[in-house]
Amino acid sequence: MKTIDELLDEGVAGKRVFVRADLNVPLDGTTITDDGRIRAVLPTVARLAEAGARVIVASHLGRPKGAPDPAFSLAPAAARLGELLGADVAFATDTVGDSAKAVVAALGDGQVAVIENLRFNAGETSKDDAERGAFADRLAELADLYVGDGFGAVHRKHASVVDLPARLPHAAGGLIATEVGVLKKLTDDVARPYAVVLGGAKVSDKLGVIDHLLEKADRILIGGGMAYTFLKAQGHEVGASLLQEDQIPAVQEYLKRADERGVEFVLPVDVLVGTSFPDLKTKAPADPATVAVDAIPADAMGLDNGPRTNELYASKLADAATVFWNGPMGVFEHPDYAEGTRAVAQALIDSDAFTVVGGGDSAAAVRILGFDENAFGHISTGGGASLEYLEGKTLPGLAALED
Ligand code: 3PG
Repeated sequence: MKTIDELLDEGVAGKRVFVRADLNVPLDGTTITDDGRIRAVLPTVARLAEAGARVIVASHLGRPKGAPDPAFSLAPAAARLGELLGADVAFATDTVGDSAKAVVAALGDGQVAVIENLRFNAGETSKDDAERGAFADRLAELADLYVGDGFGAVHRKHASVVDLPARLPHAAGGLIATEVGVLKKLTDDVARPYAVVLGGAKVSDKLGVIDHLLEKADRILIGGGMAYTFLKAQGHEVGASLLQEDQIPAVQEYLKRADERGVEFVLPVDVLVGTSFPDLKTKAPADPATVAVDAIPADAMGLDNGPRTNELYASKLADAATVFWNGPMGVFEHPDYAEGTRAVAQALIDSDAFTVVGGGDSAAAVRILGFDENAFGHISTGGGASLEYLEGKTLPGLAALED
């Protein structure tokens, strides 16, 4: 895999360099609530610009349906990139149309432009190789060189991630190099005890990684919406909590395998429940109640870990040598249900372990909750990408940069 250092050594002055970034940042309207992903790719953009390249930054944002949708415009991300760079950043209102062509043609050496959301074009995510290829052909016309630095999207077989680097001389950006270096540490020669904290809404998203981690980890702590499927699999009633009934057999099988292999599976012992999902817009007080996991009322939904669980999880992380954490423990966006997520973040900071926070949501959570990013070993920009890497899968966007 060619590195950006090698590319810079060869010289990029006057060259049009297409940087595939992951600027998929959380937005409240047009306000970016966490700019971590923009800051993460900043060194790559800045180094190329300083070396005189004409830098074209491209990304997806959200999941628009293959056509322009103003709610998913990259304009706010382009503006933020300009602020962080301390330079004017031009913005093209399309991906491969007149605006993109004009903006790229007007770029001077050392200048930066962002083109509109790649997913406004159906070719970006198409399952049809020819359709993706046709879009990649048009993107390739915009540039001379390609730098892949959108780590959060390397698990996607999309035109700008896979087909475009096949059409242009390419290199991996600094962010991808850092992310892969850290994740390698978790897969090759991990320091033990190795504890993994998994949260978030869906068990089905995490099955692959749990399967893999049963062979690797010493302890697996479960929280968030997915915990209720585990609790149900253990025979508890979970009321109106999130539940993936169809995943119960898989979960039971994992619990059995963990037992056989001596992997400690840790589940909540108490939870915070509410009678409805909290209002995340107004953040009106939600009046949560703490209940033991064997006493969840039929009309209540679990929305965060309870205080005894928070203590238990902190104790299970205290002596770990390595911790990987993906997925919030509750509805952290609401102050009444943020404590479980906060407690795990604090436990990571308090431990002497090498700590990795993986995932768009958990990474955003630690920043939104006001933690110092530098207190963690590494905060990954990849959610699905880091999980799939840990599963041992070949990531198409990394494979595309290999040859
Ligand atoms: C992410 O947020 O994990 C990445 O930006 C990928 O987004 P996607 O899941 O919509 O492909």
